[in-house]
Amino acid sequence: MRSYRLEGSGGTECLVMRDAAQPEPKPHEIVVRVRATSLNRRDTMILNGTYPLPPRHGVVPLSDGAGDIVAIGDTVTRLAVGDRVTGSYFARWIDGRINAGLIDQLGCTLDGMLTEYAVLDEQWAARLPDHLDWHEAATLTCAGLTAWNAVTSTGIPKPGQWVLVIGSGGVSLFALQFAKLLGCCVVAVTSRGEKADRLRALGADLVISTSDIPQWGATVRDQTGGIDLVVETGGPATFAQSLIASTLYGHIVLLTLQDAQGGPIQLPAALYQRSLVTISRLFVGNRTNLEAMMRAGSQHRLRPVIDKVFAFSEAGDAYRYFQQGDVFGKVVIDGA
Ligand SMILES: NC(=O)c1ccc[n+]([C@@H]2O[C@H](COP(=O)([O-])OP(=O)(O)OC[C@H]3O[C@@H](n4cnc5c(N)ncnc54)[C@H](OP(=O)(O)O)[C@@H]3O)[C@@H](O)[C@H]2O)c1
Repeated sequence: MRSYRLEGSGGTECLVMRDAAQPEPKPHEIVVRVRATSLNRRDTMILNGTYPLPPRHGVVPLSDGAGDIVAIGDTVTRLAVGDRVTGSYFARWIDGRINAGLIDQLGCTLDGMLTEYAVLDEQWAARLPDHLDWHEAATLTCAGLTAWNAVTSTGIPKPGQWVLVIGSGGVSLFALQFAKLLGCCVVAVTSRGEKADRLRALGADLVISTSDIPQWGATVRDQTGGIDLVVETGGPATFAQSLIASTLYGHIVLLTLQDAQGGPIQLPAALYQRSLVTISRLFVGNRTNLEAMMRAGSQHRLRPVIDKVFAFSEAGDAYRYFQQGDVFGKVVIDGA
């Protein structure tokens, strides 16, 4: 079977295709025929050596992927041959709070999904909704789950409240879709005004182009009465405007702390002094959250947005395309 492996860091030349024998499951393992995978910002950070958790040398990259089970070990009870599954980002984190013993991640410290056959512990996978095709099903593990937890884990927003999403990256598009599913109003801020129509088509009630209105915080607050929940993926470039846009008791889920050059978030004291906004963080989510997200997605027939699909042999091109930044939706790699 063919797998990509990360041998070193510093760019796509470290992404090497390797051949190996067809895997056999140990008693508690499943073997998944991977049908599609997808890229997240963290995968480019892992590739370039800038991710906070150092990857294992030679690891199979990518947390996100979907496939069907072709073999199971003798003691497997949760899943069966033929089940359509995806992997869980923090594979060992099943429920409750994370701790230092649960930080292993697919595609980083554990072999991920950019392979013909993935071998997973039966606890590391979850069944997929039936309505998704393989490309869509391969997008849920990181961006989908992060967005789901951002909009559901704080108790805010309630139906009719305002959610702000920044940009049109993977997390933001899912957050927009989940916020609409919960009955919320959504503002989308984008650095590329040409994406406005597509953001509106996904349900955004108000779209602001940062090139038209660079100091957009006050405009957003004036037009909405104040944002109840910000899914803050912009980091240093957008944080102050997000704070200005927020209502007095708003909530900012801060997902990005640094820009590409490592410049940190600054907390503008003069602004924050006048605010009772809660700032919180999250780390993607656990398998129980993933299963809840997929149940909700299934109920509402939610379809992830796909930008472009690459062949398995073109994985390096997929990384390069994703890194150039002008995408709308997930960049997917077909199974081998
Ligand atoms: N803590 C966690 O658990 C967690 C989990 C997942 C992701 N994250 C973080 O969340 C961020 C987004 O992840 P992702 O996978 O969605 O990334 P992505 O797909 O690369 O999305 C980035 C998007 O942000 C927008 N953007 C970039 N610079 C901007 C600026 N100055 N002002 C406004 N928008 C800007 C762009 O959209 P436009 O072209 O529309 O402007 C771009 O497409 C990343 O920093 C990632 O590390 C954190």
